Amino acid sequence: MNEIKLLNLEKKTRKHKPDPLALYIHWPFCLSKCPYCDFNSHVAQIIPQETYAHALLQELRHAISNIENYKLTSIFFGGGTPSLMDPITVHKLIDYAIKHLPVTEDLEITLEANPTSVEIQKLKDFQQAGVNRISLGIQSLNQQALQRLGRQHDAKQAIDALTLAKRLFPRISFDLIYAREEQTLSEWQKELKMALDLAHDHLSLYQLTIEPGTVFAKYEKQGKLSLPDEKLSSELLIATEEMTHQYGMYNYEISNYAKIGAESRHNLAYWRYQDYIGIGPGAHGRITENAVLYATERKKNPKIWLELVQKNGNALIIKEALNSIDKAREMILMGLRLKEGVDSIAFQKKCNMTLTNAIDMKILEALVEEDYILWDQKRLKTTPTGSMRLNAILDILVK
Ligand SMILES: C[S@@+](CC[C@H](N)C(=O)[O-])C[C@H]1O[C@@H](n2cnc3c(N)ncnc32)[C@H](O)[C@@H]1O
Ligand code: SF4
Repeated sequence: MNEIKLLNLEKKTRKHKPDPLALYIHWPFCLSKCPYCDFNSHVAQIIPQETYAHALLQELRHAISNIENYKLTSIFFGGGTPSLMDPITVHKLIDYAIKHLPVTEDLEITLEANPTSVEIQKLKDFQQAGVNRISLGIQSLNQQALQRLGRQHDAKQAIDALTLAKRLFPRISFDLIYAREEQTLSEWQKELKMALDLAHDHLSLYQLTIEPGTVFAKYEKQGKLSLPDEKLSSELLIATEEMTHQYGMYNYEISNYAKIGAESRHNLAYWRYQDYIGIGPGAHGRITENAVLYATERKKNPKIWLELVQKNGNALIIKEALNSIDKAREMILMGLRLKEGVDSIAFQKKCNMTLTNAIDMKILEALVEEDYILWDQKRLKTTPTGSMRLNAILDILVK
């Protein structure tokens, strides 16, 4: 049977409208380890590019061999530092995915890039490989702060990278970390204004968190690092929201700000609890097979991940069916991060239970009364005050 007949047959046998699918590809290597970072990132003297490229393709082939009735909406190369990848590898992975999965017309393909000089020279190659959205890890526009954050680039390199990216890509975001050590409100307002003047249509603005096991965690324990207190942190957040609004961006998620229509489709897929495949060391996935939603996880250590892929064609270490309660918890946890909140119809479809059955209604009433939560039977959302206390709310709200 030729390919067109096969395709028609496949369309006829499809029972439902295809579900959206996102694909995450993890690249675990970095030039150096930043003192605040607990991502699955490793410093390698020599990166065995071809071996890893081959293994990622093997995992991709295995991950999509069994799935059906999906339409690919986004591909995200995250890390680590995926801008250290050979552009040819990026090209091969994109090519394989789009040849083997139905794809939306406006497929979003994002690559996280660090603004060091070596990687900037590769931006054009990434564009030619099919990447259409760049997420630049600028972190700060202040030279002293960049040094404290252990970054390998200076502010000028970051701005040059952004200028070049604007010429090459239709969609650009960049990351900044604020609420840093000794940072005052007026210093942040000045830095954020600079960032907003430079920004295109999307920004990720993260308050610095101290992650266990990092160098910053050690400094904090030794009393060498003092971060803004709760009052200053919330002033910084309020100022961030006000200033981004003035520039026509809204916080569609706790740390993500975009002009309408420029939201990251990939990240929205996570927060709306849509299905996604994750390949590469430590990558997680949520994928439905025969009406069962599975949580998947791959071996975290890059060396062992590689050995497993070479031996078995994949490095899956967990593939676990999620029950309705697991799903409900996860969907509320993710959805409340979003300004739009959790959609009750999508919730029922995904979790096979109503939102009101999943949450403690007495607590909900109290949270609505206290102005932490909004609930109109269609959507469950946090208020601005509630979003600042999201973790505490989640602890008590979900049954
Ligand atoms: C996968 S990481 C880094 C991507 C890229 N390698 C880079 O460094 O630019 C994605 C983003 O998470 C943010 N991030 C990482 N650790 C953080 C922390 N402890 N606190 C706040 N933001 C953090 C940084 O802004 C970073 O750009
Ligand atoms: S912040 Fe980025 S460059 Fe730094 S260690 Fe983490 S992943 Fe690597």
